[in-house]
Amino acid sequence: MTDRKPPRSLVRRTPWPEGAAQALGTPIQPSVAYTAQSPDALDAQYEGRAPGYTYAREGHPNAEILARKIDGMEGASDGLVLGSGMAAVTASVLGLLRAGDHIVGGDQLYGRSLRMLREELPRLGIPATLADPTDIAAVEAALRPETRMLLVEVVSNPTLRVADMEGIAALCRARGILLAVDNTFTTPRAWRPFEHGADLVIHSLTKLLAGHSDATLGYVAARAPEHRKAIYDTAVTLGLTPSPFDCWLAERGLYSFELRYDRAEENAVALADHLAGLPGIRRVLYPTRPDHPDHNRAKALLGARGGNMVSFEIEGGRAAANALTRAAPQIAFAPTLGDIGTTLSHPASSSHRGLNEEQRAALGIGEGFFRVSVGVEDIALLKEDFAAAIAASRGEHDEA
Ligand SMILES: Cc1ncc(COP(=O)(O)O)c(C=O)c1O
Repeated sequence: MTDRKPPRSLVRRTPWPEGAAQALGTPIQPSVAYTAQSPDALDAQYEGRAPGYTYAREGHPNAEILARKIDGMEGASDGLVLGSGMAAVTASVLGLLRAGDHIVGGDQLYGRSLRMLREELPRLGIPATLADPTDIAAVEAALRPETRMLLVEVVSNPTLRVADMEGIAALCRARGILLAVDNTFTTPRAWRPFEHGADLVIHSLTKLLAGHSDATLGYVAARAPEHRKAIYDTAVTLGLTPSPFDCWLAERGLYSFELRYDRAEENAVALADHLAGLPGIRRVLYPTRPDHPDHNRAKALLGARGGNMVSFEIEGGRAAANALTRAAPQIAFAPTLGDIGTTLSHPASSSHRGLNEEQRAALGIGEGFFRVSVGVEDIALLKEDFAAAIAASRGEHDEA
């Protein structure tokens, strides 16, 4: 232990009591500022000759510990943890694009990423074109001479279409376009974008990686050090910094990520098959099922790693959908994914409510369409709960 004498002033900081044994758990470091020994020592830090921190917006230990863990999973170096998945998307596009550049995005990206491309970037002089990433000819047709970046998700939300990642990577390589992959849904357990030609890897850590719906965070890693520096400078200037407490929670969540992912995926496969056999189900979408439209590509890209997301459509409209969620209060009806427990979302009333009925119909999202983020519960319980919920949806629908 250090000095046991009381401090002479309440205002003066007391050094952390050291002992021969170290804490097993990671400490949380909430300090906004870090003291240096001298201006020379500060120079050494800023010039990268000595490690250390200066100001939390520029970096802090809890973010760094978390970033290094995700780097390891993604085969990245010097990835950055930021305040949300959208902060990671923002830092990537604003860090690397300038007015006059053009960006192409998958047409079924996460809703706010779509909004970034449709509304925010054009406002800054960066036009965007959306294209179906399962159709390489459509992606190629969207490219312009000034296209600088292509932003894509491997598995789309909520219809779980699988992008032609090999074709897209080859196209980007041939045209010198930066390939940014949002790997939130697939996670490095199923797909490691840097091994397949990506220049940037983006995550919403809020989802499967942190895994407990209690931390909002993002991550971005760049293959090229100069891209990493540009993204870092933009993120620090725009103030996209994560909270140390959130980083600590996410780090703790990450310890069990691989176990959670494997169990949730195993459950998802079984739940998809179970749903497909229930009366009242119009279709079930799961990437590695033989009836999935991208089945062959899913197998080739992901092997058996179909992930934890399952979508399905029931017969009937809004009344049937209401009856389903009411009959299953133990399955959280919540607009998120990747929680340790199973959650259910209804895109027509949440993520896709901004689209009109016709636009939703074009994507195959009707009032009976649900997306399940499967968790780690006992599969027998999940099968029982879903069977009861779907039966209830039929009852109410039949009466209506
Ligand atoms: C694929 C994907 N990317 C990015 C985001 C945004 O992440 P966040 O909510 O952490 O900002 C989400 C959120 O759902 C997402 O699903």
